[in-house]
Amino acid sequence: LMTDEKTAAAPVKPHLPDAAKVTSVTHWTDRLFSFRVERPRTLRFRSGEFVMIGLLGDTGKPLLRAYSIASPAWDEELEFYSIKVPDGPLTSRLQHIKVGDEIILRPKPVGTLVHDALLPGKRLWFLATGTGIAPFASLMREPDTYEKYDQIIMMHTCREVAELEYGRQLVDSLKDDPLIGEMVGDKLLYYPTTTREPFARMGRVTDNLSSGKVFADLGLPPMDRATDRAMVCGSLAFNVDVKAILEGFGLREGANSDPQEYVVEKAFVGDGI
Ligand code: FAD
Ligand code: A2P
Repeated sequence: LMTDEKTAAAPVKPHLPDAAKVTSVTHWTDRLFSFRVERPRTLRFRSGEFVMIGLLGDTGKPLLRAYSIASPAWDEELEFYSIKVPDGPLTSRLQHIKVGDEIILRPKPVGTLVHDALLPGKRLWFLATGTGIAPFASLMREPDTYEKYDQIIMMHTCREVAELEYGRQLVDSLKDDPLIGEMVGDKLLYYPTTTREPFARMGRVTDNLSSGKVFADLGLPPMDRATDRAMVCGSLAFNVDVKAILEGFGLREGANSDPQEYVVEKAFVGDGI
């Protein structure tokens, strides 16, 4: 009888392990989108960390990728900012998620782009290309950022103007944010640039640091180990080039277990698309 009942039952939608329900989706360009999901009650993380998220693959096994949490640690929801790789195993499908869908979210946050991995300083530089702005979208909304530093400089470079829009709107929304707007005040200096489309400011993060253009434009002294701290997130090539520049200013790479003057994380693995 039991067996008969089971066979007769309607097919059940497979329940995702570590499921998180999508609450909003925004498409920024044909290659970029962001989305928010319900935050698992038990998930604690430090602003700047990443988690593994994904969907069920065709074989029924989870297809997971690393994603920076773009929302701050105090937010009731979790936000992610994502690339769309046309034939990417995950993002070719993830780009089609809708409100009410479920993703898989492994609740084990990790990462080096956290305040604990840096020694105290006066100025904090966020250096990013492309989706590498995601951890800084979290850290720019984190009260600790403004409690620990006098000035925060967000340098973000993309090929085209439209690719800067997610970051631009986020920075723009900060001053009216009821929670941290007052803390942000004039402390955050935003320095977006493009490299392949005319824009108010142009050039690679690396070139604008090496030439001293960004210091001149913002009226800041050059980086100094005594006062400046940096967090870096971009392609491997970007990270390697930025590290050399930071080391040239005398900054040393730190980690959770050994805080120093700068920390680095890859925004993705591979050569880019
Ligand atoms: P994959 O097979 O994973 O990638 C295919 C190729 O696409 C890669 O070889 C690379 O050349 C290119 N690519 C992948 N991701 C990117 C990207 N973000 N920007 C430009 N080119 C890319 N991705 C995000 O979109 N947002 C994040 O917040 C994010 N955080 C990450 C944090 C860490 C620590 C790491 C290691 C990766 C992160 N990634 C992030 C990349 C992400 O893990 C996947 O690679 C991405 O979602 C594409 O998955 P896929 O299966 O479609 O293609
Ligand atoms: P550029 O247009 O001069 O290559 P991508 O889309 O290739 O990941 O690049 C995103 C942004 O990062 C682009 O503006 C690109 O500039 C810049 N970029 C790529 N590689 C480096 C690097 N090694 N150092 C500094 N900026 C880089």
